[in-house]
Amino acid sequence: MPGRGVGRALLAWQVARGRELVAPDVGGDRPVFLRTYAEDHLTDRSRLLRAAGFDARRFAVSMRRDLRDPLPDVPLPDGLRAVELDPADDVLVDGVRRAHNEAFAGHWGSEPFEPDDWRRRVLVGPGRRPDLSRAVLDGERVVAYVVSGTYPDDWAAQGWTEGWVDLLGVVDSHRGTGLGRHLLVAAMRTYAGEGLEYAGLGVDVENPRALGLYTGLGFEERGRETSWGLDVT
Ligand SMILES: CC(C)(COP(=O)(O)OP(=O)(O)OC[C@H]1O[C@@H](n2cnc3c(N)ncnc32)[C@H](O)[C@@H]1OP(=O)(O)O)[C@@H](O)C(=O)NCCC(=O)NCCS
Repeated sequence: MPGRGVGRALLAWQVARGRELVAPDVGGDRPVFLRTYAEDHLTDRSRLLRAAGFDARRFAVSMRRDLRDPLPDVPLPDGLRAVELDPADDVLVDGVRRAHNEAFAGHWGSEPFEPDDWRRRVLVGPGRRPDLSRAVLDGERVVAYVVSGTYPDDWAAQGWTEGWVDLLGVVDSHRGTGLGRHLLVAAMRTYAGEGLEYAGLGVDVENPRALGLYTGLGFEERGRETSWGLDVT
């Protein structure tokens, strides 16, 4: 029943609920805003959000890489070791959380994860695939990680099967040494091993380092997405 105000009413309810949930002390000195995403080709959604007072804050590219094309060999730098993200290994899981908080500290829209949230984010819930995820350790410290998921409900509509790169990060001290490339290729090999056709991910258009990494490995743009925000403090 498009065009009858159902979406508008639902969004108004969500915004009101969002305002209620934001306690006065939540953001400290930082601005608090409600956030949602919409693919740019869904113009009715953009219109709805704009009419409700949201504005476009950031832009991201959705990319995919055909896994039938050969993958390069990318060795790990000497002295480091790579392991599968074993959900039963609490020390490893928490090491990946700390590496993530460090790697994404300056990334727009990213907040540090507490241990419980992190478990939910990477280990449980629909689509989570720790078996397709990896960490790189320097001694006992996690210095890089890739967290993957598979979302079969999307596949019929989009027309291809896909391993999804949920999170990829390298701590500052270890960047530029090939770890990002190593992990991404390792993850793509696991997707190909599952018989999946493509690797997919989303990346902020203002992240040239990540974009360089992805295009260098054969990822191609397949769509754009906008992050919409509405200030509530
Ligand atoms: C993006 C990120 C994962 C890259 O990891 P990395 O280990 O530093 O990357 P690599 O050393 O494997 O570099 C591979 C390619 O990335 C690109 N790259 C690396 N450093 C770069 C820099 N300073 N400027 C531009 N491109 C760069 C290049 O294309 C490079 O290929 P080259 O060595 O042939 O030039 C890392 O910078 C990071 O964790 N950033 C913060 C979190 C983040 O943005 N994650 C991705 C979100 S989508």
